[in-house]
Amino acid sequence: MIVLGLETSCDETAAAVVEGGRRVLSSVVASQTELHEKYAGVVPELASRAHAERVLPVVREALAQAGLGLGMIDAVAVGNRPGLIGSLLVGVSAAKALAWSLGKPLVGVDHVRAHLYAGVLHEDESSAAPPEVAFPALGLVVSGGHTSLYEVSSWSSFRRLGATIDDAMGEAFDKAATILGLAYPGGPNLDRLANEAGANDAAVEFPISRLGKGSLDFSFSGLKTSLLYAVRGVPGALPPRGGEGRGGVGEPPAPRDFAASFQKAACAAAILKIERAIDAAAARGVSYRAVLTGGGVTANTRLRRELLTVGARRGLPVFLPRLEWCVDNAAMIAGLGYQRLRAGECDDWSLAAQPTTAA
Ligand code: KG4
Ligand code: ZN
Repeated sequence: MIVLGLETSCDETAAAVVEGGRRVLSSVVASQTELHEKYAGVVPELASRAHAERVLPVVREALAQAGLGLGMIDAVAVGNRPGLIGSLLVGVSAAKALAWSLGKPLVGVDHVRAHLYAGVLHEDESSAAPPEVAFPALGLVVSGGHTSLYEVSSWSSFRRLGATIDDAMGEAFDKAATILGLAYPGGPNLDRLANEAGANDAAVEFPISRLGKGSLDFSFSGLKTSLLYAVRGVPGALPPRGGEGRGGVGEPPAPRDFAASFQKAACAAAILKIERAIDAAAARGVSYRAVLTGGGVTANTRLRRELLTVGARRGLPVFLPRLEWCVDNAAMIAGLGYQRLRAGECDDWSLAAQPTTAA
C-alpha cells in the first residue's frame, strides 16, 4: 500500500510517499525558517499563508521524486493535530480534497505520536531497515513544541505517562541558544558549540529537574533561568568577578562551556525520566521491549549517545530516527497513517484540525 502523507502543523510544509508503512519513496520538506527568523519564533498567520502557497507544489515534488502519479496513491494521511490551527487547516483541507478527488481513504494522524514512528522508517532496500518494534514500548518525544513520555502498546494504542509542565526541551535549547547569542533556531547551533574542542561540560553544575518523587513530567524552565543567571549574573547580586572568559584554567566559563554544561543537564533530565518510567512500569508488572524516540531534539548528538547507552544498560533496543526524520516531516505521518489504516481505522470527511494532542 502506498500512502501520501501531508504535514503542516507548524512551520514546515511537508509531503512524503511511503510504501508498506516503512519504506520512504520520497520526503519533501519546505522549511519556513527564513520567514520567521527575524521574529525569533513562528508567526502563526505567516505560517498558514506560506502553507497555502506551498502545499500543492510540495505534494507534486514528493510524487515526482517517488516517480509516481497521483493515481498510484492508495490512501492520504494528514497530521491533523496538535499544532497551529490555521496551519493544520491548510493540510487537512488539502488532504481531504486529494482523497476525495482520488476516491481514496483519508486518515488523520496525531503529529506527536507520529514522531515516535520516525525511527522505524527506512529509505531503500539497500539501507538496513530497522527491525520490527516489539510492544509494549516506551516512547520519548522531545521537540520544539512537545516533551512527552508514552507507553505504546501498539501503533493504535498510546498512553501518555508524562509531559512538560513548562518549556518543551527544544524550546529550552532554543532559549538557551538565544541567551548564548546563537542564531535561530538555536538547538542545532547550541549542539555544535557544546561539541567544540575544549568544551567543558563540568564547568557549571546546572540543576537536573526531577520534580516530585516518581514524577514522569518534565520541567526545563528552571534550567533555562539557571543558565541566564550563570551567563549574565543574578539580578541585584554583586557583579561577577573576572573578565570575558575563555574557559582556560582558573578563568570563568566560555560560551562553549555553558553550552556543554546546559546540554549535559538537559539530557540527564530526559534520561532520568526514561529510567524512572522503566522502573515504574516494572513495578506494575509491565516490561518494555523497546524505546521509541523522536522529535527535533533527538537530533542532538549527546542525547542520541545517552539514549543508546541507557538502552544498552537496560537491554532495550532504542529506535533513533535518522537525522532528517527527527524534525518535522511527512514520512512519519504517512507511516503511522498506514498503521492506522491496517488496524481498520479510517476517517471520513468530518475529520477536523485540532490544536491539542489526542491524549
Ligand atoms: O520536531 P521539530 O521539528 O518541531 C516540533 O514539532 O516542535 O523540532 C524542532 C526543535 C527545535 O526546538 C530545535 O532547536 C530542536 O528541535 N533541535 C535540536 C537539535 N536539532 C533540532 N535541539 C538540540 N540539539 C539539536 N541537534
Ligand atoms: Zn514535531
